[in-house]
Amino acid sequence: MGDFILDTVSSRAPASISIAELRAEHYESGFGIFHATPRLSWRFAATSVRDWRQTSYEVVVTRQGQSESFHVSSNTSSLVAWPSTPLTSRETAHVRVRATGTDGSTTDWAELTLEAALLKRSDWTAELIGGPPQPVDQPKKPFRLRRAFTYSGDAETTRLYATAHGLYEVEINGQRVGDHVLAPGWQSYRHRLHYQTYDVTPLLRPGHNVIGVYLGEGWFAGRLGRPGTSNIWGDRLGFLGQLEVDGRVVCKTDADWEVLTEGPVLNSEIYNGEEFDSRLVDLEWSASGVSTYVVHAAILPFPSAELIAPETPPVRRLTEIQPQQIITTPSGKTVLDFGQNLAGWLRVNIDIPGTDKDTVVIRHAEVLEHGELGTRPLRTAKATATIHLGGPTCGYEPRFTFYGFRYAEVTGYVEVKLTDFSAVVISSDLRRTGSFECSHDLVNKLHENTVWSMRGNFVSVPTDCPQRDERLGWSGDLQVFAPTASFLYDTAAFVGGWLRDLAADQHDLKGIVPNVVPSVPMPPNDNERRPMAAWGDATVITPWDLYQFFGDATFLRKQWDSIVQWLDCGVPRDAHGFYSTETPQFGDWLDPRSPPALPGHTPTDPYLVANAYLVHVTERAAQIAALLNETEAAQRYGSDARRLRARFRSEYVTPSGRLSSDTQTAYVLALHMDLYDSPAELSTARHRLDWLTRWEAFKINTGFCGTPHILPALAKVDMLPTAYRMLQERDSPSWLYPVTMGATTIWERWNSMLPDGSINPGQMTSFNHYALGSVCHFLHAHVAGLSAEEPGWTRALVRPRPGGTVRWARASHDSPIGLYSVSWKAEDEMAMATFVTIPPNGSAHIVLPGIDVVVGSGEHVFETEWHPDPEWPPQVIQGAQGKPVEAVFVP
Ligand code: BGC
Repeated sequence: MGDFILDTVSSRAPASISIAELRAEHYESGFGIFHATPRLSWRFAATSVRDWRQTSYEVVVTRQGQSESFHVSSNTSSLVAWPSTPLTSRETAHVRVRATGTDGSTTDWAELTLEAALLKRSDWTAELIGGPPQPVDQPKKPFRLRRAFTYSGDAETTRLYATAHGLYEVEINGQRVGDHVLAPGWQSYRHRLHYQTYDVTPLLRPGHNVIGVYLGEGWFAGRLGRPGTSNIWGDRLGFLGQLEVDGRVVCKTDADWEVLTEGPVLNSEIYNGEEFDSRLVDLEWSASGVSTYVVHAAILPFPSAELIAPETPPVRRLTEIQPQQIITTPSGKTVLDFGQNLAGWLRVNIDIPGTDKDTVVIRHAEVLEHGELGTRPLRTAKATATIHLGGPTCGYEPRFTFYGFRYAEVTGYVEVKLTDFSAVVISSDLRRTGSFECSHDLVNKLHENTVWSMRGNFVSVPTDCPQRDERLGWSGDLQVFAPTASFLYDTAAFVGGWLRDLAADQHDLKGIVPNVVPSVPMPPNDNERRPMAAWGDATVITPWDLYQFFGDATFLRKQWDSIVQWLDCGVPRDAHGFYSTETPQFGDWLDPRSPPALPGHTPTDPYLVANAYLVHVTERAAQIAALLNETEAAQRYGSDARRLRARFRSEYVTPSGRLSSDTQTAYVLALHMDLYDSPAELSTARHRLDWLTRWEAFKINTGFCGTPHILPALAKVDMLPTAYRMLQERDSPSWLYPVTMGATTIWERWNSMLPDGSINPGQMTSFNHYALGSVCHFLHAHVAGLSAEEPGWTRALVRPRPGGTVRWARASHDSPIGLYSVSWKAEDEMAMATFVTIPPNGSAHIVLPGIDVVVGSGEHVFETEWHPDPEWPPQVIQGAQGKPVEAVFVP
């Protein structure tokens, strides 16, 4: 996940058309692709040329010295069909594309070299190998595997294909292979196992070579969930590797590998951290080769899962941060403050002074409480690095764990200096696509905090949090955050891959969508396997969101069975087809008025929430079915949706349009999901939502389900002043309260930290949960005014909705077509200027006061009238008794 901010409209775009990037499927590069017929896509570079439309494209595919040319009349520049015959395993193909426009102009050639990975299971001749069995009721001790091999030295390509049951790191001749960390990542390992392809040419030398592998338990066998289950996918760690030279296997995992049971990594657990013994460091272990065989590797059963070379970008080290200060706490502890809450670990930059009797212990936490490290939110996760001194420590980083932290408490080393440690930020390395900025500094910080929470929680799977004994792929969290995430980063492969895991695990649960994916058992109440609206509905809503952002209908096709299974078998229904009240619901989880210890006990009826979602997803399923030509299902879900909608109305909506739960979330969902029939009802809902918001003094009373939609719902019914007033509120609960408290990420609770600096007493008190950051969709689509109007951004909607004290805003999105950007500024009391750039082959529907047009590529400026709101700020509704509610507005 790169950190750059995209250029908006600052520099002038060139007056010619060029292709910015050519891609195969959703891969970050053409290397190691797992498709025999990969679809091709090209994004155009920004241009000042107006109305450029593609009319045709040419593709030249060169394979084994032979070129084939294809000329296709089409305006499609995204996900076009592979024109040639299917690729075979390991085959390379050089692809060139150029596009021609309606004006006759043609782009230069864009190029991409493709290399297919191992496409067939039978391409694998290696065996899964491991060490001796380890006690099943204890964390698995990391160990190493090693093998020597010879290499002739004159190859064109050398490739290592590798994966593990557990987590692995490979070294060849003493050098680390690749830049991935926590490989092979986390999948539903019983069904899907990712393998990685590495170009190892620079690491090999003619003659004698050594390959060595570190193996740790990772997610595969380590403790996961609450209170914690181990060995979910197996209790034997294994490595599978195949090293090929020009397509010939020269070294593969087999019984001739040596197991090194003792090594410097003594323990490494996802939740608890890593213990490292510098005295056991042997820098030559994978360089100079094999001594005498100690233990032969055990052959383990070959993985039953499908072996996949993923489109999902790997987890990488993104950047490093130096501590900003060294704090001595009231109790005398030494704490490093990195100034930013993040997911990752510390790298040691020095050989820490000490003897072989000394140990340094580093504890990680997100916050300080009363000046000391605040570890209570970690619950049972120890999140501790233990380093035994006496050997080299310079350059040490943990291998098979990560921490969510801003602060690191160091004991056992007194003379700590700022340069001794760096924080290494890790994340799945998605391409950054979106930016946002406006005239309100705290709102900008809220946006930046959301980006950081996304980085910290897009670690192989989309997780709830990166620090405590959870770090799980909670489906509801991703469901609400996906539109924000997909604006900020190219999530197609990452979320698309996770949805495959969801469907695979759902199959084992007979249609119930697991609440965490990959599925993790959670005794005693097995919360993870109970059918929950909004969480399970990720299977319907999230592929639809991906389709909107990336225009790829295969997300819908691949998810279709899962959608049908969920609606037909997973949702527990009463006689009317509604959610049965026999099974509990998460409802509007973490509504701020729910008691700290009971986050689901919300004022909004959880079944109202669940059934609103049910109507919504049934309608969506009918729409998806129609798109996929599933005619019978389209009719069936269409009529189910009408029936459920009528039932929702008779159950929860009064004749005048009030709702049985008179809460912000209830009205928000009904408005967002179009559950009202008449203008009179709509007007009631509008007034109730306005009233409730002002009655609550602009404080938020929504949880996970209402939060993403409350500001868009207010905008939808033209109550922008209320929306902006709520956005700009600083008292808890509000979006800006954490910002005023110094937050650098999005908190799980509106008040994870209380105003007096103490940590919320509830169990769920993470400081890095992206769900409430879903408000950024409002910032992108309404404050800056940029969203997709057609799937895949063939047409954008540009509709800035200025309000509050925001006087300018800008956003950009590097879509599958190319870069769209909007920048508006209220220039004086009367005028507003809006600058829009549209990529070649794109278009935008511009909606501004007095303007409603569709325009094509190039740069456009619109001057419109703008008037500050004379009524601003909206006022609180006062009760009849007591002293007036004070709601001091701070701009
Ligand atoms: C997680 C959430 C999740 C919720 C649902 C929590 O423990 O952190 O983000 O959605 O449980 O129960």
